[in-house]
Amino acid sequence: MSHRPHVFVTRRIPDAGLEAMRAAADVDLWDEELPPSRDVLLERVRGVDGLLSLLTDRVDGELLDSAGPSLKVVSNYAVGYDNIDVEACRALGVAVGNTPGVLTETTADLAFALLMAVARRLPESYDFVRQDRWQTWGPLLLLGKDIHGATLGIIGFGRIGREMARRAKGFGMRTLYYSRTRVPAEVESELDATFMPLDEVLAQSDFISLHTALTEETRHLIDAPALARMKQGAILINSSRGGVVDQAALADALRSGHLFGAGLDVTDPEPMRADDPLLSLPNCLVVPHIASASERTRDRMAEKAAANLLAGLVGEPLPDPV
Ligand code: DGY
Repeated sequence: MSHRPHVFVTRRIPDAGLEAMRAAADVDLWDEELPPSRDVLLERVRGVDGLLSLLTDRVDGELLDSAGPSLKVVSNYAVGYDNIDVEACRALGVAVGNTPGVLTETTADLAFALLMAVARRLPESYDFVRQDRWQTWGPLLLLGKDIHGATLGIIGFGRIGREMARRAKGFGMRTLYYSRTRVPAEVESELDATFMPLDEVLAQSDFISLHTALTEETRHLIDAPALARMKQGAILINSSRGGVVDQAALADALRSGHLFGAGLDVTDPEPMRADDPLLSLPNCLVVPHIASASERTRDRMAEKAAANLLAGLVGEPLPDPV
């Protein structure tokens, strides 16, 4: 009798993925709203063949030890994988997969929505109406920043950064970008995007949107000096990882009025608590890491994550290896 692989799935994902996994494996599903605690996670991975992890689960040497030699694959239900010690997995021959491609446009949509909401002060405007402060049409009421004609600086020009550029083009913006590697000239010309050193992008842009992975090099890339380099009255958008921004420095830059506003889909730590200083600032819009959260995209992420897991269980190359 052939052995049915055993997998631990650290949270309920859409059925599209769960059903595919259940057809081929015994699925131990952590079906709670909150992630398993560290202790529970270490316990539940003992002896599994595969792990479907989320960005809230730290997959490191300790976890790999706890899982033991049966573990063949870690499939992350996200495109980002800063929660995973990929080197440690590689050293043990554990395959690692992620979900690129399917969430690109959905994430760029949300980043652009944040950009527009902060530029035109939508959260403040909504509060204004709800608080019954709307007395009349006002020549100076809730003035924001124009999006058309403005310069957008994109930091990190992978799939999502490039989709952001496409949106900016549609809005008549000028696009600058900085990335470790420059994209081919035809991509630059298709997107009307100009490569510049980071300092120049920071200094010339009215909006900065972050689309870089979180690594040792990018942690606090946007620190006090970087914020100071940004234009007076600029807007910062972050839909990458919270750790890319020094939040204390950001709060100072927003308080002093050096920045006009910020829109954050991601924070450090997550969740951000309601008493966080950033939330007391009317020009800071924070949403709870929802950039990929559309029904269709989450289904497609589930399918991809399941396909990676199932390939890894039978020792085949993952469709989307890290
Ligand atoms: C990712 O995929 O890395 C996002 O942060 C969540 O979809």
